Amino acid sequence: MDSFTFYNPVKLHFGENALEKLSNELAQHGKKVLVVYGGGSVKKNGVYNAVIEKLQEADKTIFELSGVEPNPRVETARLGIDLCKKEEIDLVLAVGGGSVIDCSKLIAAGAKYDGDAWNIVKRKVIVEDALPLGTVLTLAATGSEMNSGSVITNAATEEKLSWGSPAVFPDFSILNPAYTVTVPKNHTVYGIVDMMSHVFEQYFHNTTNTPITDEMCEGVLRTVITTAPKLIEDLENVQLRETILLAGTIGLNGFLSIGSRGDWASHNIEHAVSAVYDIPHAGGLAILQPHWMRLSVPVNPERFAGIATRVFGVDATEKSPEEVAYEGIDRLSAFWISLGAPSSLADYEIDGSKFQQIVEHAMQNGPFGNFNKLQEEDVRTILQNSL
Ligand code: NZQ
Ligand code: ZN
Repeated sequence: MDSFTFYNPVKLHFGENALEKLSNELAQHGKKVLVVYGGGSVKKNGVYNAVIEKLQEADKTIFELSGVEPNPRVETARLGIDLCKKEEIDLVLAVGGGSVIDCSKLIAAGAKYDGDAWNIVKRKVIVEDALPLGTVLTLAATGSEMNSGSVITNAATEEKLSWGSPAVFPDFSILNPAYTVTVPKNHTVYGIVDMMSHVFEQYFHNTTNTPITDEMCEGVLRTVITTAPKLIEDLENVQLRETILLAGTIGLNGFLSIGSRGDWASHNIEHAVSAVYDIPHAGGLAILQPHWMRLSVPVNPERFAGIATRVFGVDATEKSPEEVAYEGIDRLSAFWISLGAPSSLADYEIDGSKFQQIVEHAMQNGPFGNFNKLQEEDVRTILQNSL
């Protein structure tokens, strides 16, 4: 293992009565609360009303920012930042999925910064302070509810970038599985792909002697693989939603990368693709990551073969590690397709015409990936193979 310091201060309230904990959390903060939400799903499913009721009971002054886009835009965060500064907001409360939470993180940080919010995303400034942030999560996927990362899109420059700071760890996150039963099938599938992808990103590293995190990763993957097909057939099943919700949080709250440094190249390429084409994050991952895997098998065939046998049930008898590895990747791909995920960029009507732009975005900080350091031609190969 690598030496590490682990820090995660997020207080997680999980379960059917989790919202009851909001009152106590609100008592820790000042009077003015900015409620941030997306395109209206929380109004349709009653979550918005339930949250507003708690805020009213706590005698808070409520401000609102609605319309946060999937793949949240810096322009929207700027609106929230202006509101926070003008009204001297005490707490930002994100009610929604990862996009709403990510946008709220930038609002919380931007409210304490005099310059433009895009400087934060571009990492031109070190964020050391932010408004307190709470979240009420409605979609299992990103883990943003329990991490300090955020992904923001700038449509004008066609960039989609991740940034982060310990200052934007949520103070608390409220997770009620019942709030996720209205997530439609396509976004349920995307969420499942995203959380699995996060586990893979952390599993593929070059550190040795990591049996605890290896087992944790494999356990999360096996659980998701067993649960997901049942959930897709029974979207309102709260118990299945509960399992998937916790998997998403554990998938990216830092536990799985204790003592090692994951790869994250597939995410980097996907962010470059969705900056140019605005496709759902995990739709892109479902297409790209198996091709990253195929390209990366030679780095450590045994590691791929191990996960192929222990997670995907590949029979390794009389096969080379490479054969087992590629069979495991084929099974992963088939699994995602069986859930309803896309398998080729053509599914989003993407051809090769903007590949150069995507490659340049992906390469803007030079070769990347910690398990398999990708050069420009590798990125192009992954994109070509994804057509
Ligand atoms: O906007 P509304 O109306 O709320 O609808 C949303 C949105 O259309 C809908 N939705 C959410 N909860 C719902 C619901 N519909 C019905 N019932 C509910 N309970 O679902 C749609 C997608 O929501 P979004 O928040 O965009 O999805 P997700 O949570 O997958 O977040 C995706 C974003 O997170 C970033 C991605 O790049 C993307 O921008 N990521 C953030 C990470 C992080 N902060 O750690 C890591 C990830 O790798 C990822 O990059
Ligand atoms: Zn992701």
